[in-house]
Amino acid sequence: MVCYRPPYWLTFIFIHVLLTSLPFLSAQNDSARLITFRSSLTNFGALNNWDVQVPPCKNDTQIWTGILCDKNGNVFGLQLENMGLSGTIDVDTLAEVTSIRTLSFMNNSFEGSMPNLAKFGPLRGLFLSNNRFSGDIGADAFKLFSSSLKKVELANNEFTGNIPASLTQLSPLTDLQLQNNKFDGEIPDFEQTGLKANFANNRLDGSIPKGLRSQDPSAFAGNNVCGKPLSPCKKKLSKKIIIIIIAIASLVAVLAAIMIALFVRRNRKSRKNTYKDHQVTKTERKETKKPHVNEIQMRKEENYKRTDNGGKLHFVRSDRERFELEDLLRASADVLGSGSFGSSYKAMLVSGPAVVVKRFKEMSNVGKEDFHAHMRLLGSLEHPNLLPLVAFYYKKDEKLLITDFAAKGSLASHLHVKRRPDEPGLDWAIRLKIIKGVARGLDYLYNELPRLSLPHGHLKSSNVLLDDDFNPLLADYSLVPVINKDHAQHLMVAYKSPEFTQHGRTTKKTDVWCLGILILEMLTGKYPANYLEQGKGGKPDLGTWVNSVVREEWTGEVFDKEMKGTKNGEGEMLKLLKIGMCCCEWDIARRWDIKEAIEKIEGLKEREDEEDYSSYVSEGDAYSSRAMDDDNFSFSVTS
Ligand SMILES: *[C@@H]1O[C@H](CO)[C@@H](O)[C@H](O)[C@H]1NC(C)=O
Ligand SMILES: *[C@@H]1O[C@H](CO)[C@@H](O)[C@H](O)[C@H]1NC(C)=O
Ligand SMILES: *[C@@H]1O[C@H](CO)[C@@H](O)[C@H](O)[C@H]1NC(C)=O
Repeated sequence: MVCYRPPYWLTFIFIHVLLTSLPFLSAQNDSARLITFRSSLTNFGALNNWDVQVPPCKNDTQIWTGILCDKNGNVFGLQLENMGLSGTIDVDTLAEVTSIRTLSFMNNSFEGSMPNLAKFGPLRGLFLSNNRFSGDIGADAFKLFSSSLKKVELANNEFTGNIPASLTQLSPLTDLQLQNNKFDGEIPDFEQTGLKANFANNRLDGSIPKGLRSQDPSAFAGNNVCGKPLSPCKKKLSKKIIIIIIAIASLVAVLAAIMIALFVRRNRKSRKNTYKDHQVTKTERKETKKPHVNEIQMRKEENYKRTDNGGKLHFVRSDRERFELEDLLRASADVLGSGSFGSSYKAMLVSGPAVVVKRFKEMSNVGKEDFHAHMRLLGSLEHPNLLPLVAFYYKKDEKLLITDFAAKGSLASHLHVKRRPDEPGLDWAIRLKIIKGVARGLDYLYNELPRLSLPHGHLKSSNVLLDDDFNPLLADYSLVPVINKDHAQHLMVAYKSPEFTQHGRTTKKTDVWCLGILILEMLTGKYPANYLEQGKGGKPDLGTWVNSVVREEWTGEVFDKEMKGTKNGEGEMLKLLKIGMCCCEWDIARRWDIKEAIEKIEGLKEREDEEDYSSYVSEGDAYSSRAMDDDNFSFSVTS
């Protein structure tokens, strides 16, 4: 079969003619224009009786929903209210319906800036209340309508910036509703008589202008304005005086800064070391007070700008988008907390994901080369239960480690921070998943870093972070080699172990002990306060804590009351409790090694249907003692 094909150029011309003629065809009458306008909206189901074959009005009776008609059968206005509409308002097409005098889109879901009115004829009413319009409105936005516009309702949106000055020039204006927006600055003067206005709940300040003194006081509520009809303004200093005061204050500040700088420099030269120590303790004390974000920002910038012009971030992974230290400094930051080593911030980079920046002061145990090497080693680690190190910044007496951000925060916060009543706690299934993930992460560290004496070294609930699905991510691992010895022994969890507090040594089983504490903490919901106490004064006596878990609580309900979903898990919970206590065994020789602990944890079942644990099902004290009496379980607290 032979098909006839029109020549290429003919097809081209045909399509061209079709395309160019379409707008003329479709925009000839108001019906067609309004249909085109409608297609710029989303969710316009309420307007489905709009039909291009039918005129919108018949004399002054509307045929189409939402259309206002004048006596001559022309479209006088649009009243599209309470229809759940959103999308962009195609003002250009709409303005071609030249008879339109009033526009209402009240109580819909429109967003973005106020529609541009420049092409419309003399509008008399504009009603945009109860949407989500936002942004500043140009001062001249209403200028064209100075002799027509009577009603302007913009309430309950998110408009910002100054109240547009052109509103004050609308001579027929009788109704102005701007309440519940974010307008700021002073209220301009309105001189129209018979105006009823509402400015409530914005961010306005200054004194209420003359022309508005007869308005109801409630029209100004929720702002920072004063004067009639509200209480009189306090006498303010004149602008001139304020400027002079500011000038003097800044001059003094500049002089003070210069003097301090000179003083510090001289002091540094003479008493370098004493000053440094002093400085460190001072900053640390400050940081525990959780400084304001701006303060941090300032401090960050001060530190880095002053010392070495930005420096350089070293990336240790190839799978991340690069950014510079400047990007970090520029990013908005949230304080996450001040941990044992220093403070950490969450930085929201302009392009790319949020990262966590952790600042370490006491990390000069090795020289620059070794530090870089160790960071590269950490950067080569890759496991679903490790929070990856992304980059680091090296300066002699300060280091920054940059890691991913974990959405759900730390396990500690989930276990111990008071939740809102409607927030669910961690149930047994999640806790089991967490402890299994922790075990896998540890296993990986032990396999990958066999040369480290303490492959983790700082395992505790605040260093177990949770992602969106409550998968645990170990953080602050494998830092023992680079942390200053004194500092490590003072703060790191491994050095709170019985072998270190009693014999001054740690072993590869020390991480197992930390794991045990973590397990007991997760099961009981009790915070091991003793061992986290810092400072040399308080004796870090975790043994007492474990003891209290076992002895005092043993006969009662050991388990965290917040832990839901335990009905069918009691057998496994008891097994985990036992594992926790075997890990906390004081006698190193009898304590499990990491392999055994991990095996036991992996052996726990997510569902218990396979076996019958009904004998354990809670009846007061009976089940717990029974569970512990079977096989030769032993646990010595005070050996
Ligand atoms: C408006 O124009 C369209 C063609 O563009 C036509 O189909 C329709 O019938 C016209 N409507 C009225 C009411 O005249
Ligand atoms: C409606 O308009 C038509 C002309 O288009 C006119 O003949 C008729 O009288 C009008 N009806 C009313 C009720 O005004
Ligand atoms: C706003 O519109 C919704 C429907 O979209 C309606 O249920 C509600 O009552 C309206 N509110 C006001 C204040 O008109």
